[in-house]
Amino acid sequence: MTAASGVGGRAAVVCGVGAALPPHIVSNADLTARLDTTDEWIRSRTGIARRHVAGKDLSTTDLAVRAAAQALADGEPVTVEALVVATTTPDRCCPATAPAVATRLGLTGIPAYDLAAGCTGFLYALATAAGLIAAGTAQTALVVGADRLAALPAPGDRTTVPLFGDGAGAVVLRHGSADEAGALGPVVLGSDGTGADLIRASCPGALHMDGGDVFRHAVDRMSTASRQAAIAAGWDLADVDRLVPHQANSRITAFVARQLGVPDDRQLSTIAETGNTGAASIPLLLARSAADGHLERGHRTLLTAFGAGLTWGATTLTWPGHCRSHPPKGARRDR
Ligand code: UT7
Repeated sequence: MTAASGVGGRAAVVCGVGAALPPHIVSNADLTARLDTTDEWIRSRTGIARRHVAGKDLSTTDLAVRAAAQALADGEPVTVEALVVATTTPDRCCPATAPAVATRLGLTGIPAYDLAAGCTGFLYALATAAGLIAAGTAQTALVVGADRLAALPAPGDRTTVPLFGDGAGAVVLRHGSADEAGALGPVVLGSDGTGADLIRASCPGALHMDGGDVFRHAVDRMSTASRQAAIAAGWDLADVDRLVPHQANSRITAFVARQLGVPDDRQLSTIAETGNTGAASIPLLLARSAADGHLERGHRTLLTAFGAGLTWGATTLTWPGHCRSHPPKGARRDR
């Protein structure tokens, strides 16, 4: 399914980006002290060296607020008219996270809601926020991906604990025209509930994942969705300057890049430092790369994600570059 962008000449344009990471870092060495694993296994199978993990004093709401505030301080000043928070780890089952985030940002009164689509949640949220703008419901929107996935695995499960970290990322959207830098292209989205058990967690309960099957689906779905998004935007894959794939495993993203013919030096990554941060992964990667200079004005940028559901998606944008982009709080600067 492709969500329309630029309906009636209105497009959603990215005009701010931000991110937040918990200050506490858990290295692979920290994990080898309590799990039957090795730094070599984790690095070679996943590309992960460390991850940021929130303590009890840092909720999904806190992370979302920090990332959103940074996105609002970045780029153009806007008055936010809608807020969508993508998360699979809300602080409470009810109510949703977004109204509390809005209130803490001084935005009480605007429409604010959560959306759960696993690690694809941010792309689903972008599509719905772009739809609000296209429909004229809002002139601007804040889109946040926030997750505390490190809390989901059973503490002794070596097959899942090393993979996940916590964080949040956010972008600000405003209405604009489809041909300006920052305008979102068509968003390709999909789901397949026959794979619902491949990544699952009861409420409450530990996360279970069939890693091998998920790996194969992730490569296939992200590659296909990326091709579809490029075609829908009228792009040739050879013209993609930056690939921004969901950060689940460096081997998955390397396969996707290879299938798309995107050279390694055009693929952006935070996986070594953050692990898999779920719905936060793509906006975190955008914020980090804009801050580091790996993402510059005019770069043709292809975003793609895959996650529990199963869900997947992809979209395009030409990076606006006017976003000032701070490094995520707590992030190392060694990449
Ligand atoms: O965000 C979307 C959701 N998640 C993903 O996209 C993750 C997708 N899957 C993956 O990233 C990979 O499948 C994993 C990293 C989870 C696993 O890597 P793999 O290369 O597929 O390993 P495997 O599951 O085939 O396991 C190979 C071996 C097994 O031992 P045996 O059965 O061969 O003796 C595992 O028990 O590695 C063992 N193993 C470990 N060994 C040391 C699994 N986890 C660990 C570990 N340390 N942490």
